Amino acid sequence: MVLQSPQWTPEVMNVKAGEVVLVHGAGGMVGYAAVQLAPRRGARVMATAGPTFAGDLERFGATVTPYGEGMVERVRSLADGPIDHVLDASRPNQGAIAALIEITGDPKHVVTISNHDEARSQGARVNIDELLTAGGIPSSGFLADYARLAAAGQLAVPVAKSFPLAEWRAAAELSLSGAPHGKVVLVP
Ligand SMILES: NC(=O)c1ccc[n+]([C@@H]2O[C@H](COP(=O)([O-])OP(=O)(O)OC[C@H]3O[C@@H](n4cnc5c(N)ncnc54)[C@H](OP(=O)(O)O)[C@@H]3O)[C@@H](O)[C@H]2O)c1
Repeated sequence: MVLQSPQWTPEVMNVKAGEVVLVHGAGGMVGYAAVQLAPRRGARVMATAGPTFAGDLERFGATVTPYGEGMVERVRSLADGPIDHVLDASRPNQGAIAALIEITGDPKHVVTISNHDEARSQGARVNIDELLTAGGIPSSGFLADYARLAAAGQLAVPVAKSFPLAEWRAAAELSLSGAPHGKVVLVP
């Protein structure tokens, strides 16, 4: 579970100490993990999220603001300076990439895992495209590092609900709901 979308963890985004990272859609599980991992490289983290996990994200050290109307202005005001990296981990939604480019001022500072077409058309980065170009997920030790962090209780992964295998359909429906609010577990 911890390893979902490992390729766009802060390691691969090459986040450096002192930089500012915005995680858009941090109420999703990819974003939720990124918010916890970026500070380990010394970055300051900002996040957009709904109310479910806003408190968690703040406890991880992020400055959190809701997404939706007025987000660009709120993030700019809270950042009070340049934002070096944006990870778009939101569910696909029109206009996200344009807003994030407006925040950073440079499409190359925006990496998305979900809004692929909009990113491609506006010159932002798409994780899958870069992975394919690079020949696959980089082999480094960070996946094992994350597993160790999770085992040590230093990387939280909320579980929305566990289902017995026979209830796979209900599990899939929750997973595809757009807001499962945690990982969905199937128990064999
Ligand atoms: N390319 C890849 O490598 C890769 C890998 C894994 C997942 N994905 C994709 O990445 C996306 C996120 O996956 P996930 O599993 O982390 O999501 P998830 O756990 O299903 O969470 C989705 C969350 O997205 C947030 N959200 C919904 N609409 C939003 C909007 N308009 N703006 C900002 N946030 C919004 C909501 O957060 P709140 O509850 O806080 O409102 C929602 O709970 C999905 O589209 C998934 O298919 C891509």
